Amino acid sequence: MELSILTLCYLVGSVTFIIGLKMLSNPATARNGNLLAAAGMAIAIVGTIFLYEEDGKKLGNYAWIFGGILVGGVIGTLAAKKVKMTAMPEMVSMFNGMGGACAALISAVEFDHLYKSYKTIDSAWLADFVPAGMYLTIIAGAIIGSVSFAGSMIAWGKLSGKIKDFSFRGQHIVNLLVLLLVLAAAVFTYQYNVGLALILFYTTVGLALVYGVLFVMPIGGADMPVVISLLNSFTGVAAACGGFLYNNKVMLTGGILVGAAGTLLTILMCKAMNRSLKNVLIGSFGGSSAAAAGKKDQGAYKEITLSDTAVVMSYANKVFIVPGYGLAVAQAQHACHELEKLLESKGVEVKYAIHPVAGRMPGHMNVLLAEADVSYDKLLEMEQANDEFSTTDVVLVLGANDVVNPAAKTDPASPIYGMPILDVELSKNVIVNKRSMKPGYAGIENDLFFQPKTSMLFGDAKKVLQDLIGEIKNL
Ligand code: TAP
Repeated sequence: MELSILTLCYLVGSVTFIIGLKMLSNPATARNGNLLAAAGMAIAIVGTIFLYEEDGKKLGNYAWIFGGILVGGVIGTLAAKKVKMTAMPEMVSMFNGMGGACAALISAVEFDHLYKSYKTIDSAWLADFVPAGMYLTIIAGAIIGSVSFAGSMIAWGKLSGKIKDFSFRGQHIVNLLVLLLVLAAAVFTYQYNVGLALILFYTTVGLALVYGVLFVMPIGGADMPVVISLLNSFTGVAAACGGFLYNNKVMLTGGILVGAAGTLLTILMCKAMNRSLKNVLIGSFGGSSAAAAGKKDQGAYKEITLSDTAVVMSYANKVFIVPGYGLAVAQAQHACHELEKLLESKGVEVKYAIHPVAGRMPGHMNVLLAEADVSYDKLLEMEQANDEFSTTDVVLVLGANDVVNPAAKTDPASPIYGMPILDVELSKNVIVNKRSMKPGYAGIENDLFFQPKTSMLFGDAKKVLQDLIGEIKNL
């Protein structure tokens, strides 16, 4: 009877994951989708804790389980409450890494059980007692989980500016060798003296951690979106291994969904960067090569005053706003929405052009603007926006840089060459708001700022927008 209730809990959990994921695809339903999936997860966890039985025995260990939930819950809640919007990508990376670490720990615990059962048997291999499928599931969870953990920690460091891109000559060969060592150690763990299996298992895990670090270290600059989504899919696959191992349907469903969603996101991000995954992984794109792009003499840029900006925008027929990472830094989304409404009250058509990798995490700009209640149908994807720029009077670039850098189309030496960008220079006027002439995430200069159509409006995005709103109201 209890088993069937538990099965029902797992069924409810699996269904809520799928519906929740579907709801996440629309900003209007995303919050509820997240809550729904979390509720399903809670049902599955509580069901497992109280209803799961093996050989007629319940789980027990309640003090450890609830102690862990309490400590993790408090840390997670405080981290989520304290985190600034701009630090969200780092936090997502960190949480993703924790998921990978959990999957690796599950494998470690299960491997330990196996080892303890057979370690005293002399001159035998683990392969003599453990089915290959079971070992494969355990070792795959350990390797993929460890790579995901180590890689996500490096990604966390890079996104928070604590770790710099690092690569050395021949690194890809070294990476490949380490990967081969990981696989060799995994084979030896299974097909070697069972007494040494534990040492060999931890050697495999150690090498997988080293591989995770080496694999993410050289990838940087504009390629981080691809790495983040790839690591996300790794964690999903590692969790699915746990689901196979325990024959736990809800864990399997959750893992597969995360793995599949991460893989799709990786494909989308590669498409957004116009690069193949292989190229991202062995190209060190935007990392060390960003420095190689060097500085070139761009000539002079021109500035525009707030009052001129107010006039140009108020008398335009159509205005596009291009939000970027700086908008998130300035937390200017509400001021931005206010400007949009004010311009519309003056008969100006206002739309937003959203680049798929603007900001620091997939969907960053959508989340930011949804927070300020910007209507979803005003957000145009890159291809749609590019079709409309030629009929636009003013493009206001707010804290965006790499995603509007024409070098991606014109300069084969540029580390972002080939990445599709927002063709803002097709419009009649481009006004760029940022605080200085400093480069964006990829670390390269932007030709757009020096073009005749472009005017720079310096200052913090929130302050500039608030002042601009004041100017327009006074017109
Ligand atoms: P960026 O190229 O990073 O440029 C942001 C600009 O905002 C900077 O040049 C900065 O110039 C300006 N800024 C910062 N604070 C500001 C403030 N308070 N007010 C006004 N401006 C401010 O941003 P982007 O165009 O959104 O491009 C995103 C980049 O991040 C791409 O290279 C992308 O590949 C990478 N990336 C994306 C992701 C995802 S998944 N989206 C993940 C990791 C990395 P000043 O300092 O002069 O103000």
